[in-house]
Amino acid sequence: MAGPILVFDSGVGGLSVVAALRERLPGAALAYACDNAMLPYGLREDSWLVQRILAVCEAAVAASGCCALVVACNTASTLALDALRARLAVPVVGTVPAIKPAARLSTTRHVGLLATSATVSRPYTLQLIREFAADCRVTRVAADALVREAERWLAGEPPDRDVIRAALAPLWADPELDTVVLGCTHFPLLREVLAEVAPRRVTWIDSSEAIARRTAQVVAGVAPREGPGPSFVTAPDPRLRAGLAAFGFAEPHLLHLD
Ligand code: DGL
Repeated sequence: MAGPILVFDSGVGGLSVVAALRERLPGAALAYACDNAMLPYGLREDSWLVQRILAVCEAAVAASGCCALVVACNTASTLALDALRARLAVPVVGTVPAIKPAARLSTTRHVGLLATSATVSRPYTLQLIREFAADCRVTRVAADALVREAERWLAGEPPDRDVIRAALAPLWADPELDTVVLGCTHFPLLREVLAEVAPRRVTWIDSSEAIARRTAQVVAGVAPREGPGPSFVTAPDPRLRAGLAAFGFAEPHLLHLD
């Protein structure tokens, strides 16, 4: 029997992907690893970040004995997918902003991309927009403050609506914008509050179901083992315990990096 499917993010954002994976693959064991010591990734320098992602994923893959790695982080995937695939022996599934489905859905042809500072300006993201949303106007909004809000929310603290309102504000300049891509896995965790503070109705779209679908294809021939799986952190933080437990993970282990 093969090992669990390992889900990786800088923090708790990957848990939005865990939710979709549990729906699609209810029996499969999932492991979770987050680099909470270095959160947020969205404000880090690229060459340093690639090395860091490689080191953490390599250690987490070894510690979990996983059969596949899901990089449940747009900031990491738009930068380091090729490097991860070259370094690791297990299949790697990435997460990139859902530009393509958003362009398909928008009737006004004006789409918003809400993501980290890094993701909104990455060549990978710009290429996605050129390829799949060439006939749309795409308003890119860096909303790093929402990463902290999602972390706080999962730790049991109420999200700060003023911070969230301010982060979303640039989306509303054009009344025609009708679809918003949640291009950071932390943001779907705040979906209800986002919709609540938004001044009008829009379609919010993220990649989690597509990632779960793709993961199911990748592990189809491998048969990941069933039952609970471990979780790993890079810094001890008791506030993570409740959030991880809510998504079916027991007490996290501290990951040792070389
Ligand atoms: N959850 C991550 C993403 O999807 C990023 C959060 C961070 O900035 O660390 O981009």
